[in-house]
Amino acid sequence: MGSSERGACHHWLMVEGALEGLLAEQIVYYRARAGEYDATYPLDASADADARAELVAALEALAPYGRVLELACGTGQWTVELARHATAVTAVDAAREALAICRRRVEADHVHLVEADLFAWRPPERYDLVFFSAWLSHVPPQCFEVFWALVADCLAPGGRVFVIDELPAVAAVEHLAPGQPAPAVHREVQGSGDSYRAVKVFYTPNELRSRLGALG
Ligand SMILES: C[S@@+](CC[C@H](N)C(=O)[O-])C[C@H]1O[C@@H](n2cnc3c(N)ncnc32)[C@H](O)[C@@H]1O
Repeated sequence: MGSSERGACHHWLMVEGALEGLLAEQIVYYRARAGEYDATYPLDASADADARAELVAALEALAPYGRVLELACGTGQWTVELARHATAVTAVDAAREALAICRRRVEADHVHLVEADLFAWRPPERYDLVFFSAWLSHVPPQCFEVFWALVADCLAPGGRVFVIDELPAVAAVEHLAPGQPAPAVHREVQGSGDSYRAVKVFYTPNELRSRLGALG
């Protein structure tokens, strides 16, 4: 990574230039896609029911969760699971259309939804569990350290982090977008046929382990 790339993400409020444009387009994409997300996201497909059951069991092994922060909650596929064993859930996402679906799915009083851009958001309090699914792969690699510093700032003493994301095998069904300020793909919204760029980093579990190990 060159110093100019690192410079594009050295502080939350200073994501700059071309990278800023890519991150903004990623939000526009998820806002446009919110209505079809649940029908098309793989974890809802019956073929992946076993995988989902395994993830739910791994998550439930951490219950009770205490105060939970969910980053990039989307339509709430995981918010609903978190709400079952949490004293309170704060779920943040930039796509208000997805948050509206999340609210219909999880009507509980102890679930608070926040519309915010995670590249500009700061935690108002600390949490016992920080959770994110299908989000880390949308964080540009040059923001990796800054992002994990945010996660650390969100955690209460003894707090835990639970991360779900896709394996590199999904690259086979993505349309890679060359020449972008971060690894990216072209995604189409099925309803409109419109195409958008989104950041997509294909981490292997080993790469993640070693990058996180380096952060301590
Ligand atoms: C792949 S979806 C994951 C949603 C949910 N966590 C799940 O597992 O179904 C990625 C989510 O990131 C959100 N997102 C994208 N850019 C964001 C940003 N800068 N700040 C907050 N949320 C963002 C999108 O709106 C979308 O809901």
